[in-house]
Amino acid sequence: MKDASPAAPLEIFLSDYTPPAYLVDTVELTFKLHPTATRVLSRIAFRPNPDTADRTFYLHGEQLKLISATIDGQDANAKVTDLGLTAIAPDAPFIFEAEVEISPSTNTALEGLYMSNGMYCTQCEAEGFRKITYYPDRPDVMAVFSVTIEGEETVKLSNGNDLGDGKWHDPWPKPAYLFALVAGDLVNHPDTFTTMSGKEVELNIWVRPGDLNKCAFGMDALKRSMAWDEKVYGREYDLDLFNIVAVDDFNMGAMENKGLNIFNSSAVLASPETSTDANFERIEAIIAHEYFHNWTGNRITCRDWFQLCLKEGLTVYRDSQFTSDERSPAVKRIEDVIALRARQFREDNGPLAHPVRPTSFVEINNFYTATVYEKGAEVIGMLKTLIGDDAYYKGCDLYFTRHDGQACTIEDWLACFEEVTGRDLAQFKLWYTQAGTPRVSVKEAWKDGTYTLTFTQHTPPTPGQDVKDPKVIPIAVGLLNEAGEEIQATRICEVTDDVHAFRFTGLDALPIASINRGFSAPIILQQDQDNLTRAFLLANDTDPFNKWEAGRALARDVMIRMVTEDAAPDQAYLDALLAVARDDTLDPAFKALVFSLPSGDDIAQALFDGGVTPDPTKIYLTAQTLSQSIAQAMQDTLPRIYAQMQVDGPFSPDADAAGKRAWGNVALSLLTRLDGGAQARTQFEGADNMTQQLSALGALLRAEVGEDASKAFYAQWKEDRLVIDKWFAMQVSFAKLDAAPAVAEALTAHPDFTLTNPNRFRAVFGALAGNTAGFHSPDGSGYALLADWLIKLDAKNPQTAARMSTAFETWTRYDADRQGMMRDALERIKAAPNLSGDLSEMVTRILNA
Ligand code: BES
Ligand code: ZN
Repeated sequence: MKDASPAAPLEIFLSDYTPPAYLVDTVELTFKLHPTATRVLSRIAFRPNPDTADRTFYLHGEQLKLISATIDGQDANAKVTDLGLTAIAPDAPFIFEAEVEISPSTNTALEGLYMSNGMYCTQCEAEGFRKITYYPDRPDVMAVFSVTIEGEETVKLSNGNDLGDGKWHDPWPKPAYLFALVAGDLVNHPDTFTTMSGKEVELNIWVRPGDLNKCAFGMDALKRSMAWDEKVYGREYDLDLFNIVAVDDFNMGAMENKGLNIFNSSAVLASPETSTDANFERIEAIIAHEYFHNWTGNRITCRDWFQLCLKEGLTVYRDSQFTSDERSPAVKRIEDVIALRARQFREDNGPLAHPVRPTSFVEINNFYTATVYEKGAEVIGMLKTLIGDDAYYKGCDLYFTRHDGQACTIEDWLACFEEVTGRDLAQFKLWYTQAGTPRVSVKEAWKDGTYTLTFTQHTPPTPGQDVKDPKVIPIAVGLLNEAGEEIQATRICEVTDDVHAFRFTGLDALPIASINRGFSAPIILQQDQDNLTRAFLLANDTDPFNKWEAGRALARDVMIRMVTEDAAPDQAYLDALLAVARDDTLDPAFKALVFSLPSGDDIAQALFDGGVTPDPTKIYLTAQTLSQSIAQAMQDTLPRIYAQMQVDGPFSPDADAAGKRAWGNVALSLLTRLDGGAQARTQFEGADNMTQQLSALGALLRAEVGEDASKAFYAQWKEDRLVIDKWFAMQVSFAKLDAAPAVAEALTAHPDFTLTNPNRFRAVFGALAGNTAGFHSPDGSGYALLADWLIKLDAKNPQTAARMSTAFETWTRYDADRQGMMRDALERIKAAPNLSGDLSEMVTRILNA
């Protein structure tokens, strides 16, 4: 019996949580692989959940062809709808068996079992397992899985231990979202790791034959991650085997399936010739992230998807700690804050704002957001700041021992820290439940040797949350004297009230305050700071984050005055930059970050916050003018910097070498504004690694002299999908002014463009959305083009289409013309026939701004 009516959008509420009626002890799955008719046989041992009287037997299942279903060997008399199956089940343990048929080769949504370049693979988080077979597809149902894979493929993988002959057994109970299967003609890069208790673990990275030379870095990153989690969190790996597989068609970066992580090939494959320094850093972080999930996510999982930050926020925090330890803490913190502001602040201050722990959703895929991930990680960082390192690691240990093998909530997590500290975390919990970025303004007062900082906090309303309570905000403060010496080491001011004052006594003279050091809280700090003070802090602050932050505030102020008052580029700013460039005590990577201007989107948000309607065209032209002035002001220094930053010898992706290349390439891009591209052309032609080649190409494209280089680049790399993704993205990212929509549209006609590979789609349209002046081109062509292609993509891949619709989330910032055109584009998407629930939820929420 099929339900013919289209599934109405169903909103799920955290407050409606009920425990599962039946629990699962064991699951046996047999896959008879076939591209269009894979048979999945399941044998599931259910038992009634003693914690509930509910005996409703309901299994999720979507896009399945049911062949048979039995309970204890008898026909189950199952009732089937588009979303699942119900039957009458006994109030005692029983065996449910089913056979279903699915078609992996036509599965373009890349959820459930699908095919990528002839290889079978799965993606089950969050709710993909229900597209494989009928099952209670919810994270609080954990079971032991045994798997048999039948097929011609030479390599057949699943979770846990390899029993040979396509048979697998995973001894650790897990929710269905951690299930994985891979089958294909793959080759492996093997290695081993000996854990702290002396157990030898077999490690493999599985790839298509041509990619074997791109596995070494990922393997090294994996081993470093395993050692780090032992050293810092005392967490050891718990199986004899750890497999990673690279697949080309993947919606996300990677997935932490138990013992069988599946990676987007862009997030694991690396070689000096084809990967940039940024790629290497990202790959290292993602490998660490998915590996760390083995404890924070797999051993201890989420009770329901509202608790997603329990695993994601915590694991992002852990991977950021890892990157800090492996590379430069200052650089990592600055990079994270740039990303936080670009993605999370943008989200938190627009129509899609939601708490770190949301209270309702229609499509859970739409809540793998910057807020859940990045603000979720910031919240962990604040907890650690508030309770101290010792208590933090004690609380984590308690969490790991108390909740091992369980599906948990944020309450479970916080209770561990309340217990080890004796501290009430009720106010702290508001960070999980209240959306919006707090604005914290600060006023200073000075009298008789006492310096007082008075903080006032305010969080603007967000959708569904008009009134906000004051949060506990840990603000790290240090004080400097006029000579630039630190006279008050970093101290944490715990702001707990709407207005909260802190005194610093016994001072000789009015100090200069460095506030929110290390970005200790994810807030918008509103401070009356003049550019002299900013330049002073850029020169003298002992906190590397705030040193950078002072430069950023200066740049923002300079650009805003250029935009709103037609001011000339500020000489004091140029002088400050020159001083940074000349300071040989500074890390080159840090200098590169000081020289990177705030993005167009950043300036647009800042203008909007200040009550000015942003004009993306003008912002773009301002950035050009300012960059040109910087180049001219540095004219004499640039060739020397460029020469000094050349890295000799064989390529190494380490942080020092990468930092030199980053700073050298800042110099190159400025030089290119002066020399017509001579130096960049030389670098492009002589480059032996992708960082140098791509930076040179970018500089040439920016100067509009990159056409030949771009052709040569394509000819050189046309066989390498990941490099060609960069080629697509570069042309759109570096398109001038409002040219990006036309460039992107032309690229969609290129024979290498395809709707079925998310990396390729993102290369073109992610770059379009990220090119602020281009996307917001005054004729509306950027909006129309993206709307057209989101509608096309949605028919194949709703998850990726929905994620990319966030390009429109800032629409209410802009002028009436642009707003009208963006609203039209959104309405057009909303009215498209057969729109997915994913994309429909997104455009509806964006329109409800
Ligand atoms: N569990 C996620 C992957 C995922 C996300 C599956 C959404 C299904 C839906 C994984 O651990 C993850 O978070 N991956 C990130 C990278 C990470 C370094 C933040 C990703 O894929 O972008
Ligand atoms: Zn994750």
